Amino acid sequence: MQNAGFAALGLNWRYLAFDVHPERLREAIEGAGAMGFVGLNLTVPHKLLALEMVDEVDERAQRLGAVNTIVFDERDGRRIGKGFNTDADAIVRALQEAFELDGLGGMSVLLLGAGGAARSAALRLAEEGIGVIYLVNRTASKATALAEVLRSECPTVEVREGFPPGTVDLVLNATSLGLKNDDTLPMGLEQLNACRPRFVYDMIYRPMETGLLRAAKAAGCRVSNGAGMLLHQGARALELWTGRPAPVEEMRRALERHLWGEHYV
Ligand code: ATR
Repeated sequence: MQNAGFAALGLNWRYLAFDVHPERLREAIEGAGAMGFVGLNLTVPHKLLALEMVDEVDERAQRLGAVNTIVFDERDGRRIGKGFNTDADAIVRALQEAFELDGLGGMSVLLLGAGGAARSAALRLAEEGIGVIYLVNRTASKATALAEVLRSECPTVEVREGFPPGTVDLVLNATSLGLKNDDTLPMGLEQLNACRPRFVYDMIYRPMETGLLRAAKAAGCRVSNGAGMLLHQGARALELWTGRPAPVEEMRRALERHLWGEHYV
């Protein structure tokens, strides 16, 4: 996806994957800066650790407590690394794009999960002015902790724990249930039918269609997998590194080919 984006912009840049042990993350970030890298992306488990390892942190990344993108810059003869979070904006863009929505204001949302991805999504959706959010998680104490954060940081949103008593506009799966073929659904069919969501978004993108999406489609909901989130966090990162608009369609095509093309299924 990133290499296709660079090629479309005519940049002689390369995006490479490095497997870094968390204990060597600081050295890796400093080394990348010293070697003249333009920037980095970080994924689990580095997103939280990196917050303390960059010279500056963008305000949103600070608030979400996670960095997934670093941009290096030369300043006063020194190499400065600034941390950003492009995951949170990506959920908003992906939802709007998938369901052809102008905004998310006033929506009722059932969020499944209370881990890192759920937390970023909840805080960002609250910023977008959703009306009410229901939080459901296997470990109830984590849903309670997230509810407390949301209530204190986003007082305009109504925050409830547990399944909704009536219908909702959107169900958002931020659990890892669905990654494996034999996983149970992250919510029961009875609950799905009871809350009759218009839209069901699963953050999982491989498999292309999770059990939840299959069930939701059969129940008449509009559905989307999480490829749009992956695309848009990457497109925004590319914009931060290059200072140019991302060639989103070229990046989308490359991503989809690699995720689901015949050699990658
Ligand atoms: P991420 O960074 O992707 O959010 P995470 O922080 O490990 O990863 O969160 C994973 C989420 O999937 C959590 O909500 C987790 O529930 P717990 O908080 O109870 O662990 C949920 N999850 C993972 N495996 C699950 C399972 N077998 N059944 C139900 N929920 C599960």
